Amino acid sequence: MPLTKAGREYKACCPFHTEKTASFWVSPEKQFYHCFGCGAHGTALRFLMEYDHMSFPEAVEDLAGRLGLPIPREAGNPADAQNAPLYELMGRVARFYGETLTQDARAGEYLRRRGLGGETVQRFMLGYAPDAWNAVLSRFGAHESERQRLAAAGLIIERGNGRPEGHYDRFRDRIMFPIRDSRGRVIAFGGRVIDRGEPKYLNSPETALFHKGHELYGLYESRTGGGSFKRLLVVEGYMDVVRLHQAGITYAVATLGTATTAEHLKRIFRLVREVVFAFDGDRAGRSAAWRALQHALPEAREGREIRFLFLPEGHDPDSLVGAEGREAFESRLEGALPLSEYLIRELSGQSDITHADGRARLAEAARPLVARIPPGVYRELLIGRVAEVIGLPAARLEALWQDGAAPPAAPAPVPPPRAGRSAGRGSLVRQALARLVRFPSAATAVTDGERKGLEGCTEPGADLLRALLDDLRARPLQISAQVLERWRDKPGGEHLGRLLEREAMLDDAEASAVELRAALEKLADLTREQRLSALAAQSRTGRLNDAELKEFQMLMSRKSLRGDKSGPQ
Ligand code: GTP
Ligand code: MN
Repeated sequence: MPLTKAGREYKACCPFHTEKTASFWVSPEKQFYHCFGCGAHGTALRFLMEYDHMSFPEAVEDLAGRLGLPIPREAGNPADAQNAPLYELMGRVARFYGETLTQDARAGEYLRRRGLGGETVQRFMLGYAPDAWNAVLSRFGAHESERQRLAAAGLIIERGNGRPEGHYDRFRDRIMFPIRDSRGRVIAFGGRVIDRGEPKYLNSPETALFHKGHELYGLYESRTGGGSFKRLLVVEGYMDVVRLHQAGITYAVATLGTATTAEHLKRIFRLVREVVFAFDGDRAGRSAAWRALQHALPEAREGREIRFLFLPEGHDPDSLVGAEGREAFESRLEGALPLSEYLIRELSGQSDITHADGRARLAEAARPLVARIPPGVYRELLIGRVAEVIGLPAARLEALWQDGAAPPAAPAPVPPPRAGRSAGRGSLVRQALARLVRFPSAATAVTDGERKGLEGCTEPGADLLRALLDDLRARPLQISAQVLERWRDKPGGEHLGRLLEREAMLDDAEASAVELRAALEKLADLTREQRLSALAAQSRTGRLNDAELKEFQMLMSRKSLRGDKSGPQ
């Protein structure tokens, strides 16, 4: 993005919404961006997550890679550095397959017959593994150490003992589909026979780079395909993905010959809010869909959309999009069944709901499924829907279900500080929080006494203020962005980001530390007064114990020392 300098900051047209005049600001000092137009804001990491649709670890890897910084890893997690030679080898082999494709008339003709154009072939780095036992072996495995690497990458297979040549190529005479990770590195291959043969598809084995149950074919291409990337369409086959992309449906991905796993869904929902599963209309397709639904339930919640599309019999997405084109295919997607409706439809199909017995059976069948959905609005709505179908009030149905084990309650959300008594700049708590996040080093100026004054403070947001202050005093930080990243998954972390966005005006670190301490002192006064009022009220009913009496006297004397005339009432 072209950034223009504007004082100490930079501005640009916001990449997160369409606009003609720049309202997107980047502050090098805060290491923070924010848009006055649409409210987008965050750190460099958040930018990569939002703009390039990376997951958090991917964003960390990307930034660290650009800066040449090592990433500390948990023990047991193979370091990228260790795998670097494998990634490099996979890339070279993929390019080799790509070249052989251009030289092999039969392979090229096959892809043309399948309707794939040159651009698509390039985009997906499609290739051809020659019809030979040692094409890869002889080219990439001259030395023993190289052969070991080829074997570790799953590209060659070791013969049984006693054979003259120790290894042979895994992929022979196949159309090759490189499987890429989120950074575009080739981590595995799928290979399809040309025309007929067994097995139709051969995949790389599990290697240090490749874990089948985690990966989605086409995810990298979807993210970088230039489409809006708001939803993902999950299909079954390599060919389906490639053909859909070619038709302009650049958000199609496939699981790699496995059922959709919980891991897949987690990845998907880190990237988008909407997913449509497409299944064949036959028996196998329906049972795959039901398995996908069961994995999807723990991920279902408000704000996410999970839908199921059943294709006409005899079609897969590849043939269907070929037959009817993008628009017709996308209009089918619009009509895909929401998870809730699919669930009801399946369960109603299993029991005759025109009779009481059938409806009771449906309620019983729905119960374990609904229990897998996390508590929240979405679950309540689904319970309501089941209740409607069986003709019971939702509360009654829930009460019946509750007889079983109650699901664990969700943790109570931290209330964001409300704008309080001091008008204009928000409550004292908010002022203190805003200063802390804007100039985190101000925390080190706060004394133990000032910190202690916050104990017992019950203003909204006081918990967050205490936690942030303690954190920053124990482990000081210099830059706002560091605070946001450290707090990204903690309660209140999101709120801190919004505070920073609004507090663009604060720009003097020293003054800010002074103001922070002043705000803390006022909060301490306020807390003492509230406590004094509470004790005074209690004393009128005559029930102060010794400790409370002492506290009351201490608070009173402190008050008169300070010459404060305004009484508690
Ligand atoms: P085309 O037949 O070329 O249209 O491919 P397709 O992608 O439509 O294949 P299909 O619908 O038959 O299978 C869907 C997916 O299941 C494939 O993309 C593979 O991932 C996987 N698959 C199919 N057949 C095999 C097989 O024989 N072995 C393995 N390991 N996987 C297979
Ligand atoms: Mn197919």
